[in-house]
Amino acid sequence: MVSRKTLHLTWSVEEATKGGYSHFMLKEIFEQPQSLRYALNLQQFYVNVLAELLDRARTSYLVGSGTSYHSCLAGSYIFSNLAALPTVPCIASEFIQQYGRSINVDSAVLFVTQSGETADVLKCAEYARSRAATVLAITNVLGSTITRVARAYLLQQSGPEIGVAATKTYTAQLIVHLQLALALAKRRGKLSQSEMDNIKDGLKRMPEIIEYVLNKHKSTMEFLAERYMDKKHFFFLGRGINTATAYEGRLKLLEVSYTPATALAAGESKHGPIALIEKGFPVIFIAPRDSTRSLIIGNIMEMKARGAEIITLGEEGDDELRKLSDCFIPMPPMDEIFTPIAYIIPLQLFAYYMAVKKGLDPDKPRNLAKSVTVL
Ligand code: AGP
Repeated sequence: MVSRKTLHLTWSVEEATKGGYSHFMLKEIFEQPQSLRYALNLQQFYVNVLAELLDRARTSYLVGSGTSYHSCLAGSYIFSNLAALPTVPCIASEFIQQYGRSINVDSAVLFVTQSGETADVLKCAEYARSRAATVLAITNVLGSTITRVARAYLLQQSGPEIGVAATKTYTAQLIVHLQLALALAKRRGKLSQSEMDNIKDGLKRMPEIIEYVLNKHKSTMEFLAERYMDKKHFFFLGRGINTATAYEGRLKLLEVSYTPATALAAGESKHGPIALIEKGFPVIFIAPRDSTRSLIIGNIMEMKARGAEIITLGEEGDDELRKLSDCFIPMPPMDEIFTPIAYIIPLQLFAYYMAVKKGLDPDKPRNLAKSVTVL
């Protein structure tokens, strides 16, 4: 008979579900390689159903709140670049005032909501349905209210996200947008077979790319949080599809570390916001080697000339960018369309470590709820 010594785990039940991580937010950041694999495993039938309904519409809207709105912003670039489908990204709380009278039977509205319970989104969905529009959804929660209102929906399959700050659900939403856009591109004949295959191969590689970025930059971003924790205000600047990354990186920092931050389409900085810049003001640039890079370099020079602290996320080996930066965060090469997924990872980590360094609980930020079920 074999007798074994009983091991008494000192973890509480909650800690046991944290999988050894200090916070759910960090656990969920590190779950992203796996959650992206789940998001890549959608049932193609339903992807095709939503693609067909979007393709049939005269005007398509992408509507969400907070982080989910940021995925709509990136999604709009994705649909346009891959499928030549123009879509209108819109903040849920503004949708009815801004587009209400334009919504009709020829409209399709794709709501993006990880909880499926956001009051602003549900109000818009009911309104869109009352105007005979086609209501579609991307959500993380089976059986949530949006799944009962939508004519068709996709489940992003991220698993439960306990941290109030959305991390793995955001990158999963981007993966779903990409798969939808591929199906649309095929229907609309906008990509050759080899272009389609190239995008599909890139998608399949994303989980391992995210794994690489997480392992490479965990300590980098912890170090940067230590270095910049006393800064009173940050700028996040991006162009093109990474304008969304700038907005999302800013929201992460702001909501878990209570650090004031401003996100901008980089081209807007000279139309006013640059007035804030003074010596040592930290400006974070999302600057992959893509179609926007030469313009971003110009924005970096503008800020540098005014004494800003230049922090850049750029492609490994981009020596010109590295030399212009006070801090350069090298990222692996990838197609532009995938950069919002990879480039948000260091910014998620930065926000997390800024909160922890300030002695805050990133899982439970003050004044915030995981799902905003009130208008
Ligand atoms: C994101 O970190 C925030 N927790 C918040 O902006 C959130 O994205 C927003 O409330 C939308 O939630 P939903 O995706 O469940 O609709």
